[in-house]
Amino acid sequence: MDKGLEAEFLGVKTVNPLVLPAGIMDVSYGSMLYAVENGAAVVTMKSLTLAPREGNKTPVYTEIEGGAINSMGLCNPGIDAGLMEIEKFKEHSDVPVIASVFATSAEDFVSLSSSVNDSKADFIELNLSCPNVSSEFGIPLAASSEEVAKIVTAVKKVSKKPVLAKLSPNTYNVKEVALGAQNAGADAVVLINTLGPGMVIDVYAQRPVISAKFGGLSGPCVRPVAIKLVYEVSRALDIPVIGMGGVSRGEDAVEMLLAGATLVGVGTAVAHRGITVYRKICNEILQYMDTMKYSSIQDIKPIS
Ligand code: DHB
Repeated sequence: MDKGLEAEFLGVKTVNPLVLPAGIMDVSYGSMLYAVENGAAVVTMKSLTLAPREGNKTPVYTEIEGGAINSMGLCNPGIDAGLMEIEKFKEHSDVPVIASVFATSAEDFVSLSSSVNDSKADFIELNLSCPNVSSEFGIPLAASSEEVAKIVTAVKKVSKKPVLAKLSPNTYNVKEVALGAQNAGADAVVLINTLGPGMVIDVYAQRPVISAKFGGLSGPCVRPVAIKLVYEVSRALDIPVIGMGGVSRGEDAVEMLLAGATLVGVGTAVAHRGITVYRKICNEILQYMDTMKYSSIQDIKPIS
């Protein structure tokens, strides 16, 4: 079904390049399986913390023209219960799983990665870039290449899984931060996390639409920022980049591959085109390949 779409990431073969990113339909094994049944080739679980978190009060999500803002507040069942979901997922599927983890100190990231070592996850993603908990924890670690290097170095000492660093678009030094991650031993980088944060005000109620007031921006409106950063970072790094941010259609996924991504995340588009978005995008990439007379997505080379 995905003939010609096969990709390879850190030595792992995937049936197509599409990834379910952290935070989308992924707090239970059933919802991750649902994405796979609809064409996702790699799944990421919602970022897990040492202790369970309830997250923010609703409303946590609202749509705008061209995108959406959310502030979930890192709701998750905690590392132990979260990894059980991955175990259950693996009873049903051998699709690669990325265990995403969030913490605010190197010690806690190390502790989370020790737990991930004992799980069936294929990769660990360090969420260094959640934009929605700054009132609780301060600005994201991904604002500083030194902080990122410190965390990645500490995790690499203990991790038995390849380490992915999820970076933020919300700084002026994304390339330096990505280089800091690579030099500290990261196996890949993931970008972009959501943009902003931003704010939407209900003009009749005269108050912010989401309860936390501010939230990360995603969807088609962020795509040019994502494309620019994936282009810039993938040219500067020797390690692969998982590119995401506003990919909704096959042509958007192709644009991400042309920018230099090895795999492509599709998140907010699930809300706009339904869970079958993965299958739709695969078909649209195949149509593009037909037009371009390509027989494999490997023919889609990064532009210079
Ligand atoms: C949340 C976390 C993120 O990393 C993100 O990009 C968006 C939302 C959250 O749980 O609030």
